[in-house]
Amino acid sequence: MIISVANQKGGVGKTTTAVNVAAGLAKKGKRTLLIDVDPQCNATSMFFEPEETEDSIFPLFTEKNFDITGIIKETKIPNLFAAPSTIHLAKVERILAGEMDAPLKLKKILSNVKNAFEYIVIDTPPSLGLLTVNALVASDYILIPITPSPWAMEGVQDFLDTFKGVKETFNENLSILGVIITMFDPRTVLARDAVNQIKAMFEELVFSEAIHRNVRLEESPAYGEDIFTFAPNSTGAKSYEKIVEEVIKRAERKERTA
Ligand SMILES: Nc1ncnc2c1ncn2[C@@H]1O[C@H](COP(=O)(O)OP(=O)(O)OP(=O)(O)O)[C@@H](O)[C@H]1O
Ligand SMILES: [Mg+2]
Repeated sequence: MIISVANQKGGVGKTTTAVNVAAGLAKKGKRTLLIDVDPQCNATSMFFEPEETEDSIFPLFTEKNFDITGIIKETKIPNLFAAPSTIHLAKVERILAGEMDAPLKLKKILSNVKNAFEYIVIDTPPSLGLLTVNALVASDYILIPITPSPWAMEGVQDFLDTFKGVKETFNENLSILGVIITMFDPRTVLARDAVNQIKAMFEELVFSEAIHRNVRLEESPAYGEDIFTFAPNSTGAKSYEKIVEEVIKRAERKERTA
């Protein structure tokens, strides 16, 4: 199944969540592919040096019969594979302007590899542009990380409108797997208020585990490691492990009722 981690708000923990959920799924023996569709390449640089990723997903937006298997790389984590991004993805919007099938490119290319992985996790950029839309069109589920700040709900309605638009026009099976509260600091009243607001809006869609602010989670990208490798005993690792278990439980429940 294909899960996009998305929220057009910047810096809410999309990449941290995509990388650690993908790594956590792999750690549980699930064959997992992490696809980076963000021109910032943050997820890509968690695992690879720039010279290792000259081949990226970029041609899937420009070539007719691009074979994504050619650019999928093993990571140092068993069961975890990655499809790297490149800064050139920033040009996709301009290149595809006016093409009828512009939102469908990723979905088409993934139909070849969908069955080769139990989970495909897509990290998306902080925008509602064509790259995010391609990810949503290709996905079965969305995970929405939200940071509980006074501005947390800013843009959420725009995101939900995009979700509905994609669902109606391209992908009727798309559904929200859940909302993950990230970078929570329970000491502040503002953060606690924001959590209440998020729960009031999304109700049972909110994951029962919230990710608290954790220095280890902030440090791990600099070492090119997921949280389970970098600091297995940290609160960040323990929380993301619970999130991964909840992802599996929610996804399996949805598949059963589908
Ligand atoms: N729980 C956490 N505690 C502390 N720092 C965190 C936590 N989660 C993420 N961070 C840090 O916050 C910053 C933003 O996180 P991240 O890159 O995952 O967000 P993003 O939504 O992917 O950002 P962008 O919108 O730019 O793609 C990063 O420096 C990351 O290491
Ligand atoms: Mg990111």
